[in-house]
Amino acid sequence: MLCVGIESTAHTLGIGIVKDGIVLANEKSMLFEYGIHPRKTADHHADVFPEVLHAALDKAGKTLGKRATPSGSLMLNDIDIVAFSQGPGIGPCLRVSAAAARAIGSTFGKPIFGVNHCVAHIEISKHLTSLTDPLVLYVSGGNTQVIIKKGKRYHVMGETLDVGIGNMLDVFARDLGSRGVERDGTRVKNARDIELLALNAKGYVPLPYTVKGMDASFSGMLTHAQKLIGKESSEDLCFSMQETGYASLCEVTERALALSGKKEIIVCGGVAQNKRLQGMVRETAKEWGCKFGVAPNEYNADNGAMIAYVGTIMEKRRSLPLAKCVPIQKYRTDQFEI
Ligand code: FE2
Repeated sequence: MLCVGIESTAHTLGIGIVKDGIVLANEKSMLFEYGIHPRKTADHHADVFPEVLHAALDKAGKTLGKRATPSGSLMLNDIDIVAFSQGPGIGPCLRVSAAAARAIGSTFGKPIFGVNHCVAHIEISKHLTSLTDPLVLYVSGGNTQVIIKKGKRYHVMGETLDVGIGNMLDVFARDLGSRGVERDGTRVKNARDIELLALNAKGYVPLPYTVKGMDASFSGMLTHAQKLIGKESSEDLCFSMQETGYASLCEVTERALALSGKKEIIVCGGVAQNKRLQGMVRETAKEWGCKFGVAPNEYNADNGAMIAYVGTIMEKRRSLPLAKCVPIQKYRTDQFEI
């Protein structure tokens, strides 16, 4: 069963091709300058769509060793299923993958499946780490949740009460950049800059720490840290943002672990690429006698392969009629059955 998966919830247009759980191609193009401008980003996704699609078909053909065309590329007609990221995400960006799925599905007569983006991050991580029933810490720009599986649905045990932790770090990085802070001669702009600046910190600056039950909050810490720009070193502030924010994530993870009794922990989503967070959650898992798993960065960043992988799991379900192949902008993790 060969599935093409299209991802376009935010800054990345990703197209992946998966066959029987094996990723044959995972091509992408990202637009992230200083934040995400919805219309410009959607235009970018539409503009690069043909080249990303052809790169994915070409790569999958070569990976399969199939000579479907003189170039060795797969053809869209060889695909059995079309899957697209249906939400949650930014409206104009989401419409690109929905429109592409409708076009490919209807042109070639293939079934179309809408995939929840958050669940796709979890499922590809479970698949690649071979963990089967984990407590999941899902952390990205727009989402911060502690999740377990109950029957056919994921259940959100705790989450951010305001902004996603990745969004907080991106906003703080942009603020530093707008005040002239640079890394390697370039204005800092995102959470990756925060991670690298933090490596040169000399001390910890106390910041507000908010955990309420199994929920966390980050906006107070962000406001406080913003007021300290120029008064404390940028490196120390970046270090302290990470230490404080990630400690609160570990605390809510521990609280959910105590309640759920799970024996495995996965961290996934864009912020899961952060080595300091990985280390802290790994340490938490060790203290609780749990197995720890994290997928390679390629799959924690937004990507089409995770959407295609979930498409192959959904293959026995009834596909979506064309009229229902539309974005669900506020698609909750617990609204999707798998
Ligand atoms: Fe994501």
